[in-house]
Amino acid sequence: MDVINWKEELLPYQQAVDEMIVKFKSIQREFKKKEIHSPIEQINGRVKTISSILEKAAKKNIPVSKALEKLEDIAGVRIICRFVEDIDKVVSIIKERNNIDMQILEEEDYITNTKKSGYRSYHITVKYPIFTISGKRDIIGEIQIRTLAMNFWATIEHSLRYKYNGNMPEELKTRLQVCAEAAFKLDTEMTTIRDEILEAQRIIQTKNNLVNEIINNIHNLHFIANVENMNEFNKEFINLYQEGNIEKLFEFNRQLETMARLYKVQYS
Ligand code: GTP
Ligand code: MG
Repeated sequence: MDVINWKEELLPYQQAVDEMIVKFKSIQREFKKKEIHSPIEQINGRVKTISSILEKAAKKNIPVSKALEKLEDIAGVRIICRFVEDIDKVVSIIKERNNIDMQILEEEDYITNTKKSGYRSYHITVKYPIFTISGKRDIIGEIQIRTLAMNFWATIEHSLRYKYNGNMPEELKTRLQVCAEAAFKLDTEMTTIRDEILEAQRIIQTKNNLVNEIINNIHNLHFIANVENMNEFNKEFINLYQEGNIEKLFEFNRQLETMARLYKVQYS
């Protein structure tokens, strides 16, 4: 059997993971900019380690030479959501891209069909095209979508599963099933205060965006238009910020915008 050049073979998988992360982060950024709740809370991605590839291949009786071809989760992206309902939104976002920049091969809904272990997540297997210096390659990858609570459970359970290497004591399995139900209860309870949480998120986002605009206006007026008394404005901004009255900050920004129009500052 030929020696596998793992580093080279895994490179396209890394590219697929990196590209998918960029795309999902852009979606998240767009929601934030528009001050709309983002169904995407976090995005993680990884290429399976060589040791995990070998282990999984052995478990599934796949020859090592066929592992890269047969295993469908070498490129893995995980999307974490705040609320269970956000998972459906993320799934629709991915479905809208079907046959555009990725192709959906399979969907597994372990939220409706909870696994015996207690595992919940929505899995989508995709074919993702990448372009390397030697041309186009289709990479198979797995996108896992789950809530923060589901992720917490899965992370803990995964490490215990690893520790016991398939021989987890029954008592521990039962306790983990109880924990999985508790995590799901948490998700369900969170949904009941969802509106309140969304409102809090919106207030924070509005303030963040406003502060960015003010800083940008002060910056442009000072550095681009060379307006002289911007230090005074900067001080006033700090005072207003500390006072914490959002209406006053809006009014202050309107003043800056009028000045910017006067000095014909180009918005960046
Ligand atoms: P393989 O991924 O090849 O095993 O095929 P499959 O489609 O039969 O597997 P499945 O969809 O059940 O699981 C795919 C991935 O989901 C795994 O690699 C894990 O990351 C995750 N997963 C599935 N079941 C569990 C579980 O009980 N606990 C944890 N922590 N993760 C799980
Ligand atoms: Mg699967």
